[in-house]
Amino acid sequence: MIRLAILASGGGSNMQAIVDAYKFGVLKGLAEVVLVISNNANAFVLERARKENIKSVCIERKSFKDDEFFNKAIFTKLQVASVDLVCLAGYMRMIDKEILKVYNRRILNIHPALLPKFGGKGMYGHFVHEAVVKAGVKKSGATVHFVNEEYDSGKIILQKEVEISKSDTPGDIAKKVLEAEHKIYPQAIKKVIEEKFEVKNDFSLY
Ligand code: GRF
Repeated sequence: MIRLAILASGGGSNMQAIVDAYKFGVLKGLAEVVLVISNNANAFVLERARKENIKSVCIERKSFKDDEFFNKAIFTKLQVASVDLVCLAGYMRMIDKEILKVYNRRILNIHPALLPKFGGKGMYGHFVHEAVVKAGVKKSGATVHFVNEEYDSGKIILQKEVEISKSDTPGDIAKKVLEAEHKIYPQAIKKVIEEKFEVKNDFSLY
């Protein structure tokens, strides 16, 4: 079983979708969530983890004197839990370079748009959907990608489109996209596990 960690700052509906997928869906027998880390003590994702009996920890930046100690705390938790894959799910901080090095091509993120469009610094949450409405595009969607040192620019693993109608508000789009996210995140994790760990056992693929 591949050991997953989820890093999240908010509601954790994607975390729930991943947990449901290993309990009843596409990740059954393939992966399990062994750790949830949040940088926000009030995040509902921590409550979800408790309900699911998943080890969870809150690691807030303000509890540490600098970034280095904060990042070390995250790294240590990942190591102690023998995590294979890290899934960012609404995690509102950049991942430290040292963690990226050690977990090279083993950190995934989900973005609420069809990258490379509507990505990059400042493009998160409602800003993404507002930009989509402003651009007047007919489609948006969700993207799961590998995390590298730049925002939203790592190799794309899976995307799912959603149709946009002229009357859709940013809130309407957010709702449609979130539904797509819940479908593709578990599928993308499955794809990575099958390609990376099971079939080819080769991290140089990506
Ligand atoms: C999602 O829209 C995700 O794409 C973005 O943050 C949101 C997190 O939602 N990065 P949730 O906390 O998983 O409900």
